[in-house]
This record gives sequence, C-alpha cells and structure tokens, in this order.
Amino acid sequence: MTRHIKLFDTTLRDGEQSPGASMTTPEKVRIAKQLEKLGVDIIEAGFAIASPGDFDAISQIGEIVTQSVVCSLARATEKDVLKAGEALKYARQKRIHTFIATSPIHMEYKLKMKPDEVIARAIDAIKLAKSLANDVEFSCEDATRSEAPFLKEIISAALEAGAGTINIPDTVGYAIPFDYQRFIKEIVDFVGDRAVISVHCHNDLGLATANSLAAILGGANQAECTINGLGERAGNASLEEIAMTLRVRKDLFGGADTRINSKEIYASSRLLAETCGIEPQPNKAIVGKNAFAHESGIHQDGVLKHRATYEIMSAEDIGLDRNRLTLGKLSGSHAFREKLKELGFDLDETEFKRAFDRFKELADRKKTVYDEDIRSLLTSESANVPAEFTLVNIQLADCSGGMPFSAVTIRRSNGEEITDAAIGGGTIDAVFKAIDRVCGFSGQLLDYKVDAVSEGKDALARALVKVVFDDEKPAVMGHGLDVDTMKASAEAYIGSLNSYLVMKDRLRKIDRTSV
Ligand code: KIV
Ligand code: ZN
Repeated sequence: MTRHIKLFDTTLRDGEQSPGASMTTPEKVRIAKQLEKLGVDIIEAGFAIASPGDFDAISQIGEIVTQSVVCSLARATEKDVLKAGEALKYARQKRIHTFIATSPIHMEYKLKMKPDEVIARAIDAIKLAKSLANDVEFSCEDATRSEAPFLKEIISAALEAGAGTINIPDTVGYAIPFDYQRFIKEIVDFVGDRAVISVHCHNDLGLATANSLAAILGGANQAECTINGLGERAGNASLEEIAMTLRVRKDLFGGADTRINSKEIYASSRLLAETCGIEPQPNKAIVGKNAFAHESGIHQDGVLKHRATYEIMSAEDIGLDRNRLTLGKLSGSHAFREKLKELGFDLDETEFKRAFDRFKELADRKKTVYDEDIRSLLTSESANVPAEFTLVNIQLADCSGGMPFSAVTIRRSNGEEITDAAIGGGTIDAVFKAIDRVCGFSGQLLDYKVDAVSEGKDALARALVKVVFDDEKPAVMGHGLDVDTMKASAEAYIGSLNSYLVMKDRLRKIDRTSV
C-alpha cells in the first residue's frame, strides 16, 4: 500500500440517527468490537452530550477498544466539548470531533451568527478540545454549500488552534463527483501537510460513495462512512463500497487503500442489520442478499465456466463463503466450534457452552442449521442484557371468529414464576398484553417485524419489536429467535422490556455520578 486512506466509521453516531436505528449500549459495544476487528481506523462512538445513553456507550467503548481511535462528536460549545472529553476519559486513543456550520444559509438561519463569531466559536472549541485530547477533528458543517474563501479562513484558524484533521462534509448530499474532487483538491492544496483532509458524504442524490471516491482522487486521506450506508435520510457513504472499490479498482487509485480486513465485511453488515432490524435492500452493492446471486441462465453458465465472466470480486472476499458446510442434529461440539471460527466468532468457554446448548436445542427442531441461523443465534445471544424476566411458557387459544386469548408464564430473576392471561384484537396483541400484565408494565408497540432467517418451512423466525414502556422515551428494541413465530415474538417483547429496565438503571447511575 502506498497511500493509507483512513476509514472513520460513524455507524454508531450518524448511522444511529437513521429513523428506527437506535441501539442499546451493549449492542453498540458489540458493534464497536466488530468494527475494530474489521480494521476501521476511527470509531465515532456517539455524541456525548446528546443523551446519557450516548455518553455511557462512548465511555464503555473507550474502555474496551484498543486498536482503533475512539471518537465523540461535540458541537463547538464549551459544554459539548467538556462532555466529549469526560466520556472519552478512559479511551486509550481518543479523538474529539467538533463542528460548526459554515454555509451562509446555516450561519444566517440556524446559528444566527456572523462569520466572525463562527470562527471565534470554532477556535475556542478546538483549543478546549485540544486540552482534553491530543487528536482533534474539526468539521465545517455544510461545507459543500459554503463559500471557498470563508472556508479557507476558518480552516486556517482551526489549524492554528490545533486541529489535526479537517473534515469537508457534504452534509445535505448536494455534491457531484467531478466538482467535489476539484473542490477537495483546492482545499488539499491549501492545507498541504498541516492536516489530514477528511470527507463525509450523505447519499441524498445516491452519490455518497462516488463523491467519497472522487474526494480520495482529489487528495483526501480520510473518508467517513457507515456499515450498510446507514444514516440520516438517504444515509451516509457505505464503508463496504468505498473499501471494495479501492481494492477492485486499485489500477485507478494509485495505490490508495484502507486497512480494512474485507473478510469481516459480511459479518459486520449482518451484525448491524440484525441489531437494529434494518436490512440492506436486496440489490445493495457488496452486502445485499442478491449481490452475489446469479439468476439468469447465461450468467450462471458464464460463472460456472469462469467466475470472472460476471463477477468482479468474490463472495469469499467479503467473508461470505457459499460452500460452507451446514450443521444438523448430529453435529458435535467440535464441528460447532469450527463453524464459529469460520464465521469469525470468538467466544470464551462459558459463552461457547451457552451457544452450543442453544444450537443443540435448535438442531432438534430444525433439520438443517444454516450459517445465517448460527449468526442470528449468536447475535441475539451477545446483545442479551441481564434478564429480569424470562419466558417460561405461552399458551394460545385463537378460535376463528372469536377472541384470541393468551396465557403467559414468566420467571423473574429471583426465581418466582408468575402466570396471567389476556385477550386481544389479534394473537400478538393478546400475547403482548398478557406479558404486560404479568410484568406490571405497559408497552406501546411502535414497530414489529418478523422474517425468516434462512430457507425451509422450518426456518427460524426472527422477530423484532420497538417499544416505549410506561410512556418513557427513548424506545427500546427487542429481538427474538425461534422456529415458532409466536415464541420469537414473545421473546422479542420480553427482551425489549429487559433492555428498558437496564437502560433505566444505567440512567439512574449516571444521574447519581454527575450530581
Ligand atoms: O453531515 C454532517 O455534516 C455531519 C457532521 C457533524 C460531520 O454529520
Ligand atoms: Zn453526517
């Protein structure tokens, strides 16, 4: 590699701003570990001042991540920057990312500030950030609609104040590749070796990846992106698309490459999709379900004769091995251990034992256990939070034309078992109402999805719920996995309730420590 392009992953910050993508702290920690394994240079773990949950996630990620830099976003204000510094206190390698808008429209209408005041605010924030973390990034929000002379003025001030990375975001997805490349080159020539120039592209016109690559050709040495292109509105530039384009078309990028271990791309994509319940569209480049599927006879024939006739990269390059062995009821712990290794899971003995028991239980009920089943099993396992409530049993009576009725038994963490029943408009309504009665909470269901993890009539059902309990926001997500759809749904609902209790408890602790 002759030129290292840093990848700054903002899945946990900008990605989480995507509608419906909120994640719990244990889920974010799990994703951060995977991002580290994937080889991203910088993990933007959240926006410390935005919520106690964000603060908590950044702190915990800072404590466990060793290879990547951990970063918090902060507006250019004293309280934001101080909060970011506090959240990153224990991070081994930390970065504070501070930003302020620089376009005329944002300065006049959003900030209601004169350009000189904006520069003064940026300088103060960068100096304060620099006293808390050696590594400071400054972003000129809405840079692509800013005036070049003003941008150069604020960049000069930011460099003087100590910023080591200058980000030129296309906040509203307005840039066009050839023009963005020229614009970035102008900034790169202006800054020289005084800082790393970064780009951060949104996908409103479907050009986020193309713009990021054009900027790399223009001299940018850092690209900000997210797994699966998750992000506000139409999303952010997709990490896997940037990384794989640089690999596949290295002939055009003069040796520019990232440190991404491409074999971890598929696992990262699946983990994120399963965690926040947002599947990439089937035709999404690199990680979509159809990305490596050849349906037409002509294509299949060509690929069988020579793979490169219709494939510019292989599924194996991104860690998706189509010829892997499936497991079943007769597979033992050795085969299961090998399978976990192949899929990139690294479990300690206790985790392995629990996962193996769950696998055996599944294999008893399902003829073939596919890689996707195991991945889902492990993801739902690792995201587990301490369970106050565990499902023991559900009974359903759904007489056609009558009132669906459900009785549910739940075990509390102290061993006590409670049973209660409810009727509902439909079976799901009856089950969730019965759980509310047993547990003594009232949940408002905002989203509910069920899909099949793999193929076959006996496929594992994956249920996902998003619920607000007792009118206390934010909403929490829950996942459930079972060959029985109703049981998967009940597990998901109970999981969301357990997450809600953990979240409440954490918030109480944070409140106490900040008094
Ligand atoms: O899109 C944007 O401008 C951002 C900044 C905070 C970098 O997300
Ligand atoms: Zn953004």
